[in-house]
This record gives sequence, C-alpha cells and structure tokens, in this order.
Amino acid sequence: MKKTISFDFNNMFSEAIGNRHGVTEEDLKRWTPKAAHALSTIEEVRKSSENRIKIGLEWINLGEQDPHLIDKIDQHGEKIRNSFKNVISLGIGGSYLGLKAAQDALLPPYYNEFTSLREGKPRIYFEGNNLDPSTIGTLLKNLDPRETCIIVISKSGETTETKVAFDVARNWLREHPDIGENYGKQIYAITDPHGGSLRQLVNSMQEKDKESFIDFSVFPGVGGRYSEFNIGLLHLSIIGVDIKEIFAGIKDMKEICFQDDLFKNPALLYATLQSIMYLEKGKVISILMPFAETLKSTAEWYVQLLAESLGKEYARKIIKKNGLEEWTDDLEKRVNRGRTPVPARGTNDLHSIQQNNISGENNKTLTLVEVQDFGIDLEIPQLSGELLAGKKFSHLMTLAVRATEWALMRAEKPNMTVIMPVVSPYTWAQLLYFFEIATTYEGEFLDVYAFHQPGVEGYKNYMYKYLGKTGLKREITEEIDNHPLKKMDKYII
Ligand code: PA5
Repeated sequence: MKKTISFDFNNMFSEAIGNRHGVTEEDLKRWTPKAAHALSTIEEVRKSSENRIKIGLEWINLGEQDPHLIDKIDQHGEKIRNSFKNVISLGIGGSYLGLKAAQDALLPPYYNEFTSLREGKPRIYFEGNNLDPSTIGTLLKNLDPRETCIIVISKSGETTETKVAFDVARNWLREHPDIGENYGKQIYAITDPHGGSLRQLVNSMQEKDKESFIDFSVFPGVGGRYSEFNIGLLHLSIIGVDIKEIFAGIKDMKEICFQDDLFKNPALLYATLQSIMYLEKGKVISILMPFAETLKSTAEWYVQLLAESLGKEYARKIIKKNGLEEWTDDLEKRVNRGRTPVPARGTNDLHSIQQNNISGENNKTLTLVEVQDFGIDLEIPQLSGELLAGKKFSHLMTLAVRATEWALMRAEKPNMTVIMPVVSPYTWAQLLYFFEIATTYEGEFLDVYAFHQPGVEGYKNYMYKYLGKTGLKREITEEIDNHPLKKMDKYII
C-alpha cells in the first residue's frame, strides 16, 4: 500500500472556528448541489477528446501517456545525463514553475552544489524566466559551453523572456570554436507541434541535421500551468525521477477526485470550501504554506495556477455546437473574480507573515502542508539546554504545524492541512494534480474560464508596440496611444 496524501479540513468548519468565519452545516447544504453540478459539468466535457482539446482540459489525462513516448523521453534523458555536466532549462510561467518545483521537491537540497548528491547527473539551472541580464549573464560567463545542454521550453514559441535567453544561449554555444555549427546537437526544444517561431526554427534546423534540435511536443489542449506532466517529463527523466511513480500518483488522485461523495472527494471539497470562503465570507487571499523548505517552489507553482486560472475579468460563456462546447468570455458580464494567492513557508514565515495571519484582517484562508517524514532527521545535542536537547527536528516540525493550526483556530482564521507522509514522486504528483482539479472545480463555482490567461497580454502588447513588432491589431496600438503612462514630475520625488 503506497503512502498517499490526505487532507484535514477541520479548521475550515464552524465547529473549530465559529459560525462567523467557519463553514456551517447550513452552508454545506446549500452548496452540495452546486458541487454536484461542478463535478458533472467537468465529467461531461472530459468525456470527449475534442472537447478537452478545445477547452484546454487535455491535461486531465496526462497520467496515461503513450509508453513509446515515455521510452523515447527516457532515452534522451539518459543521453543528456551521460553527455553533459550542465543543463540550462529555459522557460517561464508554466514552462518553468513546475520544473523548478519538481527539482526542489524531489532532489536533495544543494543538489547543484555537491558532486556526491548529483551521483553523476548534470547540474540543472533555470533561465529564460526573467529579463534580468545578471543571472543568465553570470551563468554563461562561468559555464563551459562544451559541457552544457540547453533545453528550451515554450508552448507558443513566442515568449520574449524565453526567446531572448535562447538566442543568447545558442549563440554562446555556437561561438565556441569546438562547437560552431554543430551547436544544435546540444539543444532540445519542447514546443507546439505545429505553430510558433520556435517550431519553425526546430523544423528548419532538423532539415539540415536530423540530430540537432531534438524536440518534444506540448500536447494540444494542455495549457502552460497545467503542463508539468507533459513538458516536465524530460527534466524529470534527466534528474532520475521514476516517471511511472509520477503517473501512479496522478492516476490514484484522479480516481479520488472524481468521486460523487463530497466528503470522499478532497478536490471538490477543497474547491467548495474555498469558494464559500471567497464568495460568502470575504476571504479574498489564499496562502499556501508548506512546512518544508523543499516545497517552497511548489507554492510558487500554485500561485500561477490559481492566479491565471481564476483571476478573470469576465464570466464564462459556453457555446454548444454539434455536441461540442466552446468556452469563452462573456463580454457583457464583467465579474473581476479571483482570490489572491500568496506563497509562504513554515516554519520560516511564522516569523514574518504569520503575525498578520493571526492578528490582521480575517480575509484569508491558509492551506498548510505537513510533511511527516523528511528522509533525514537530526537530534538536538545536549548543548541546547534542557528543553530542546534530545528532541528531533521532525518532532519540532510536527509540533510547529500543530501549534500553527491551533493559533489560527483560536484566532478564528480558516485553515486546512494537506498531509504528505513523505515527499516522493508519487505524493508530489498527487499534490499537483489535486490542486489542478480543485482549481478546475473552483472555475465552475466562480463561473469563469479557468484555462486561458488574457490578462497577461497587456504588458506583452505594450512591449511589442515599442519594440516595433508588425502586425499588432489597430485597436491594441490605439488603446496604448490613447492611454499613455502618466509620469508627472510632481509625483516623482
Ligand atoms: O499558463 C500559461 O499558459 C502561461 O503562463 C505560459 O505558461 C507562459 O506564458 C509561457 O508561455 P510559453 O510556454 O508559450 O512560452
């Protein structure tokens, strides 16, 4: 029997935190039919692959992939592992956050620093996720291009941060006298199977040399923030994670999260409780606080998932045609929905944001993540005074989680705990998949389209206009021209 994750929702309910801030039996009675409706809507659309692809729900099946593809990924993972000392993974948003989260959760801390921890595997660096020249500049100055493999990940192939980092990095490879025009053999690309400039580049490079720019596809219908178990597999294979364990975690969590009974379905219950809190009890902020340093970047991954999925200007419109559904924005129904996600870390942030969590405005929910076995433990030596001497770190950590729950409960602050018996590929995949399904149900409760992100276009368009990109729509350029940034001297001091 595998060690599986579990959920403690006690402190979301009125029995623990009172009727004003806690969910009551009466609340749940009203929301149970809505939960059933959310479940059946998703059940219905997930039946047809055409629907899934059109809507962006294809990620739901990422636990069941073609074994030949997985073999191919593993072969290349092994090749990269054996041929290179360094890998630079380029990507941003959904093409980065899941990989970084996996790396931190599933590899030992300080992996890049110590040969003994890497066991012959390459160091992994993440770039192409910022326009700050200092990180990539420093990295390229200090790595040896002959020992370095570049993996570029961009579904659209058009994202500025990734594109410019890729151009700089491939030029860096090419300029090395030992590499020159063979540089493509050190490049892997993960992008859309058909469109975008990265796809075009891959195709043209492969025409010249089949062994250059080895590529894998982002599956149609899999959006960036739901794509870790698609675009992240090559990275997982390089770092030696058993992909079968990942798939087993997804499969088991999927079974659990499509059950009808609200009290057996943690994703549906989580979504229901969060939605009651948000829509009826003013909890507009959502803090994810894993009590594990290695899960900090998983909390950052969750920020993108929640913010881009639920932070929406318009309600969703469903257009049904020939048995297929098209989801889009209802431009006549402005709703401006979405809780604000905040990543935090126990016990570190108990000395920071926790003061506000306990004593500040009661406008947030907290999701704690408790890890029961860290795979390593330390006993405090007799030097530390009587109280702590002889105790183990793991014992103190468990106590800190209980203490946090207790303090939040006494302050009537809604909170819940996800319990991970251990952080393994299986449980970590369960955790991500749980949040993905829960967010999907929340999209139903908020009546927004959870699989697009039109809000991120504004800054891109502004940059494109001033970079002189051709083909921008006239209404976009007019919008920018008619509403210039206000930079009045009197307000700059
Ligand atoms: O969730 C999403 O789709 C986005 O956050 C994308 O992942 C992000 O913008 C990066 O896009 P791309 O992979 O096309 O470079």
